[in-house]
Amino acid sequence: MKNVVLIGFMGVGKGTIARALAKESDLYAIDTDDLIESLENRKIREIFETEGEPYFRKLEQKTADWLARSVQNAIISTGGGFYKVKNIKEIGTVLLLHASFEAIYDRILSHPNAKKKLAKRPLFQSPQKAKALYEEREKAYREIADRIIDVEGKSPKKIAKEIKKLLFR
Ligand code: S3P
Repeated sequence: MKNVVLIGFMGVGKGTIARALAKESDLYAIDTDDLIESLENRKIREIFETEGEPYFRKLEQKTADWLARSVQNAIISTGGGFYKVKNIKEIGTVLLLHASFEAIYDRILSHPNAKKKLAKRPLFQSPQKAKALYEEREKAYREIADRIIDVEGKSPKKIAKEIKKLLFR
């Protein structure tokens, strides 16, 4: 089996769904932002602040190269901009998790740690700017995805079962 690569906008639930799917499938879930933080030994926010976005994008490409070369049979959740790496299709089957911007924003705001969830995302500092980015990326996400799943209003467990049915059987 190839890897499953979850893409989609910030806050759509890629990490949560990756872990739910991993549990359903007895596979490991890994996250590209976590890999980058461990490689750099600092937080994404700090990398953005001190090095800037282009440096972070280079780290995403480095991570993509490592994943394509070295990882198999995993569920991989990605940062919202990871879809731009040049070899995403070599890593595995690309699955887009789709929800409306309003649902995503609500999901973040209703989290008990909403402040922290927003603070750790440098590109979600203003809802207006985040919405513009969402609109700019929507089409590109769809173009790169092998499959698309609508996640709005569904529990992670239900989504995980749906993905399993779609990809593993
Ligand atoms: C980004 C999304 C973030 C993180 C970084 C940039 C983006 O990940 O990789 O802040 O460009 O959309 P999440 O999608 O997990 O928030």
